[in-house]
Amino acid sequence: MTKRTFGVIGLAVMGENLALNVESRGFPIAVYNRTSSKTKEFMEQRAKGKDVKDAYSLEEFVQILERPRKVLVMVKAGNPVDKVIEQLKPLLEPGDMIIDGGNSLYEDTERRTQELEATGLGFVGMGVSGGEEGALHGPSLMPGGTETAYKELEPILTKIAAQVNDGPCVTYIGPGGAGHYVKMVHNGIEYGDMQLIAEAYDLLKNVLGLDHKQLHEVFAEWNTTDELNSFLIEITADIFKYVDPETKKPLVELILDAAGQKGTGRWTVVSSLELGVPIPTMYAAVNARVISAYKQERLAASEQLPGPTAKFNGDVKAFINKIRDALYCSKMCSYAQGMALLSKASEEFNYNLDLGETARIWKGGCIIRAGFLDKIKSAFQENPKLPNLLLAPEFKQSILDRQEAWREVLMVANQFGIPVPAFSASLDYFDSYRRTQLPQNLTQAQRDYFGAHTYERTDKEGVFHTEWAQVSE
Ligand code: 6PG
Repeated sequence: MTKRTFGVIGLAVMGENLALNVESRGFPIAVYNRTSSKTKEFMEQRAKGKDVKDAYSLEEFVQILERPRKVLVMVKAGNPVDKVIEQLKPLLEPGDMIIDGGNSLYEDTERRTQELEATGLGFVGMGVSGGEEGALHGPSLMPGGTETAYKELEPILTKIAAQVNDGPCVTYIGPGGAGHYVKMVHNGIEYGDMQLIAEAYDLLKNVLGLDHKQLHEVFAEWNTTDELNSFLIEITADIFKYVDPETKKPLVELILDAAGQKGTGRWTVVSSLELGVPIPTMYAAVNARVISAYKQERLAASEQLPGPTAKFNGDVKAFINKIRDALYCSKMCSYAQGMALLSKASEEFNYNLDLGETARIWKGGCIIRAGFLDKIKSAFQENPKLPNLLLAPEFKQSILDRQEAWREVLMVANQFGIPVPAFSASLDYFDSYRRTQLPQNLTQAQRDYFGAHTYERTDKEGVFHTEWAQVSE
């Protein structure tokens, strides 16, 4: 038997599909799963007739791999990854490499990279986006860590990744935890996009009274526009079409409105707070999921806290277009926040990120893939030092042209008592970013008043403190 080019540990949904993707590009693979029945089932079903060799111990697994060994670990993020690494370490030899393709916390990846590099092994923490379909046919890949290991992997990764007009959706992201950091921010943006779409749906349904056929048509139409064409808008249009076979009602309306999360959105917010980068749209999206989960409490509160009653008397078609504009402006702000966070993290952690390339590899395969990522790519390629996406010529004009509609949508939402936390957070971000004067002069005065925290002045240099209570006028 020829030695295997690539090994996969962990045959859950993502591992299984990535393994089949690699095999389909002409690379002989080896697979191992802790529970052997899972491996047997895979071999008898999806791997049948394919160039896949099964192993039932890690010793056997590493022996059938060609050197340097390339081992993709697809197990649950956290402790399970450390456990597999611990078991593999004594079996591998210098130059071999481990790739962690799960949604690991970038700090764990940083630590693992350091530990493994010190033993002569390579470690690549790789963000993988695209779900089941993407994993099988072409995901977006965000590998970071040992650069020499990435070079060894490049011929395989460039083949299994999604392909777009300007190349495969993979690039070396940067050292240490860079790959998982970028994947984490991708997920923060994913949360933002999903929440913004949910708010648009709420307005279309509860202000304008659109039914599911109309909702499908609106989203299908938006998906044809340069501004909103994207995977998430496309699947939203599909969702509105789906009728529950049992009840004959639109399935989406039968789903409990309590959102789950696995943590990557929250991690993005935590990191932004630590780095001092405002990402209010993504924060609003995380909070929206959290409050949605308080279903019973919300039901009880609804009995006691009635909202306003309002009726829409305007032009429905025109208002649909305004919601579309508000969605686009809000989305631009969310991406501006995400890119600003990446820029700061790059500086802080020495990732040396190429933001244009990052936007490019998100153009295909991943959950946030969208037509407008090409514009983001160009904006950062033209000016890698762009301080904020909102200042890129094409984005600046787009938002200025639509801001009136955006503001009107928020006013109507308020009149109807419909929460639009991510739309609002985006507009507040825009207004805070563009204003010359914010009220934090008062905040500074208060800090100095109660805590002698001092302040700076606009009319002269220096650091000042005032005994505020002693002066009455
Ligand atoms: C992707 C997704 C994926 C993520 C799920 C669930 O890029 O393919 O981001 O990695 O795990 O979307 O995330 P939540 O459970 O946190 O919504």
